[in-house]
Amino acid sequence: MGGLQGRRVVLGVSGGIAAYKAVEVCRRLMDAGAYVMPVMTRGATHMVGPTTFSALASEPVRMSLWDAPEPIPHTRLGQTADLVLVAPATARVIGCYANGISNDLLTATLLATRAPVVLVPAMHTEMWEQPAVQLNLDLLRSRGVTIVPPGVGRLAGGDVGAGRMAEPADIVAVASEILAPQDLAGLTVLVTAGGTREPIDPVRFVGNRSSGKQGHALAAEAAARGADVVLVTTTNQPVPPGTDVVCVETAAEMEDAVLDRAAGADVVLMAAAVADFRPKAPAPDKIKKNEGIPEIVLEPTTDILAELGRRRRPGQTLVGFAAETGDVRAYASSKLRAKGLDLVVANDVSAPDVGFEHDTNRVLVLGPDGFEIEGSLMDKRAVARLVLDAVIDRRTSGEGKQKK
Ligand SMILES: Cc1cc2nc3c(=O)[nH]c(=O)nc-3n(C[C@H](O)[C@H](O)[C@H](O)COP(=O)(O)O)c2cc1C
Repeated sequence: MGGLQGRRVVLGVSGGIAAYKAVEVCRRLMDAGAYVMPVMTRGATHMVGPTTFSALASEPVRMSLWDAPEPIPHTRLGQTADLVLVAPATARVIGCYANGISNDLLTATLLATRAPVVLVPAMHTEMWEQPAVQLNLDLLRSRGVTIVPPGVGRLAGGDVGAGRMAEPADIVAVASEILAPQDLAGLTVLVTAGGTREPIDPVRFVGNRSSGKQGHALAAEAAARGADVVLVTTTNQPVPPGTDVVCVETAAEMEDAVLDRAAGADVVLMAAAVADFRPKAPAPDKIKKNEGIPEIVLEPTTDILAELGRRRRPGQTLVGFAAETGDVRAYASSKLRAKGLDLVVANDVSAPDVGFEHDTNRVLVLGPDGFEIEGSLMDKRAVARLVLDAVIDRRTSGEGKQKK
């Protein structure tokens, strides 16, 4: 979670049953490199022990305006925070904040901060659907507060319904996105994702094992960093809000979609696994088993990346991806040169936990002039961050050599 690295986060925990899940939120914020300052309400201390937060967070937990080591804790926390995140947020905390009422350390911190605020409501369905609660949330939304809505599921006491707190991983992802650098603002980033399918007949196809996860992670990271994102994809992986999505299936459809949109892009990330060959004459009807073994003649598809290199406009950053086995470095270097790329992102798809279908990846990023980043095994969103950092580096300084 690059947006959280080194950032100061007040983690407010109020008195909902979901307070136990805030422990996981705290741990994930710490894992992402945030400096976490926990604040518990009195209600929260009935749900989960303060020692847990003190042990996990960057500072001991604070619970009161009156027994803190510093004289004015109600303003110090809010003033020094990069983000105030309240999970779970009770109906009481939401009501106080919406109406400007400060009656404990957490509500005082909420009123005394200019940092972005994220509220993660959790409560029983009857409370959640209460018009007063919804009105308070509308008011807070209109003032720029981010509300991470609850889901539907099992609640305290065996009830089931709306009001269940969002999952810790999703909460931390929202926090990270809010704090992400806006270093791609004003740029259009075109991303391709997934493997193409080349029909043999109406039922069968020649395909590959690309899941599209890396391409979609690139799109999500680019969007979080302020880019206008165009995503040409063959898969139905999650898509970041606001993305212009173009769904395609074959290499020819990918070619049309990409070449149509490339002229308007400042950065092109060709993460899709596009077929190199396709059946020359797909059968119009399903090939029957009893007709014997079919002879499938293949023909080359257009090399979209090479075509993009030829059409590249000044100032456009062109990034190719190489999913390889064997001597990945040698292949990546020759692809970089042959296609005139600004960067090539290579991975060894035969290595464990790397590439197709996995949630993790290990990449080698090469550029002209000896630019090189060798990543460790990391999740695909972290890889996306590394690639976009390299793009920014190329667009600004131009040279560099580092290990990550
Ligand atoms: C077992 C139990 C569970 C509760 N769960 C919630 C909840 O999920 N959401 C909520 O808004 N209030 C919940 N409440 C009510 C709050 O704890 C109560 O309004 C309290 O005053 C909130 O205090 P706080 O906002 O200072 O933490 C619960 C109360 C109890 C006793």
